[in-house]
Amino acid sequence: MQFKTIIEPFRIKSVEPIRQTTRTERENALREAKYNLFLLKADDVLIDLLTDSGTGAMSSEQWAGIMRGDESYAGAKSFYRFETAVQDITNLKYIIPTHQGRAAERILFGAALKEGDIVPNNTHFDTTRANIEFRKATALDIPVEEAHHPELVLPFKGNIDLEKLEQVIVDNPGKVPMAMITVTNNSGGGQPVSMANIRAASEICRRHDVPLFLDACRFAENSWFIKIREEGYADKTPIEIAQEMFSYVDGATMSAKKDGMANIGGFLALNDTELAKNCKNMLILTEGFPTYGGLAGYDLEAIAIGLREALDENYLRYRIRSVSYLGDILTANGIPIMRPTGGHAIYIDAKQWLPHISQSEYPAWALSAALYLVGGVRSVEIGSVMFGLQPDGSEKPAAMELVRLAFPRRMYTQSHVDYLAEVLLHVNEIKDSIGGVRITEAPAFLRHFTAEFEPVNGQIVADE
Ligand code: F0G
Repeated sequence: MQFKTIIEPFRIKSVEPIRQTTRTERENALREAKYNLFLLKADDVLIDLLTDSGTGAMSSEQWAGIMRGDESYAGAKSFYRFETAVQDITNLKYIIPTHQGRAAERILFGAALKEGDIVPNNTHFDTTRANIEFRKATALDIPVEEAHHPELVLPFKGNIDLEKLEQVIVDNPGKVPMAMITVTNNSGGGQPVSMANIRAASEICRRHDVPLFLDACRFAENSWFIKIREEGYADKTPIEIAQEMFSYVDGATMSAKKDGMANIGGFLALNDTELAKNCKNMLILTEGFPTYGGLAGYDLEAIAIGLREALDENYLRYRIRSVSYLGDILTANGIPIMRPTGGHAIYIDAKQWLPHISQSEYPAWALSAALYLVGGVRSVEIGSVMFGLQPDGSEKPAAMELVRLAFPRRMYTQSHVDYLAEVLLHVNEIKDSIGGVRITEAPAFLRHFTAEFEPVNGQIVADE
């Protein structure tokens, strides 16, 4: 008998209380945070879906590994366990630990980019884009056309546009030092990239002698989507699929705070000996010696174990289902979300849901503030606040106004998700009373983290 309920494939050994707040308390907290959810105290949040990065629950095996951490400055046993775990999956030659994904990006781009270069990607994540722009190079997003249509249900909306990839390489000789593919495509809605697309991108890059890198943060979730959606992969294990994905690239940047199932950590992995040497020298300058790279030995242990756990089929089945479970409820109730649901998050299409708020008044930001006020839920805007500010200081509305509800790994149970659904269905009833926001203060880049706002109408949600 095959039962159909997909249960959380774990039981809970340790619990962390979460705090209920009143509407008045949340109104005060939001005002004090200048209407920026990044500036809230986490204790004032009931369900925290700000990010799936570093927020997950570690397993008892990982905690046991932490006790085994070897804190030797050089050549620690923990490093070799970490290196073996990463190589088993990626088969890449040089494995450089970093304190998180963006450190891998900074080191890689610092060694490989020069002013005026162009780095194409399906969609750059904000830190990737910022690290490229910091080198005075261009971060070019070339997702496939269907990525721009949230309502279209297609299996691999994370794919990179292969024609544009080849075109940009041909049109800019000597100026494309690498191409990247982000799996899954976080800023494009957590959508997966097919094996066929990675393989074809790799062929194009090899033909033109351009190294291809994976931004591999959610490689395990991407492997699962390939298994269940791409012909020819149903009988392969997630690790076999991951191994094939990595076989098409010359390197990878990784935030182990996602599919490394750890609270901190990352790595840069690559095959080029000269580039690896330069990266290791940069690493020593700012992160640490190459066998710990800004991490404790115990972090390396947690990642080594977490990478394998992330590829467990029962875990991946539950993980992807817990996201689609909420997505199905929202879709059935007419709430516009990016479809089909991706791996780590639900992306609400705020432009469509709140058409009365113009993009200049940041509808996704306003919606995200409203979700906190109504239900104590913290989400994140992926729209014109995050992407609207151009490197020259001008403002250009983002292609989409999304609110991301990111699911920490192994953290919330189905009743938390049922509560979320209730909050969202209530917001659906009062959505016309949500008003926009304006920016009162903002830094020059990565402004969403610290910018300050005020509601255009004096309040985010009119009194209920
Ligand atoms: N690349 C992608 C696709 C990411 O999603 C992230 C982080 C990074 C790189 C940078 O990694 O945070 O370890 O430095 N994304 C988190 C998020 C922060 O909320 O999506 P990091």
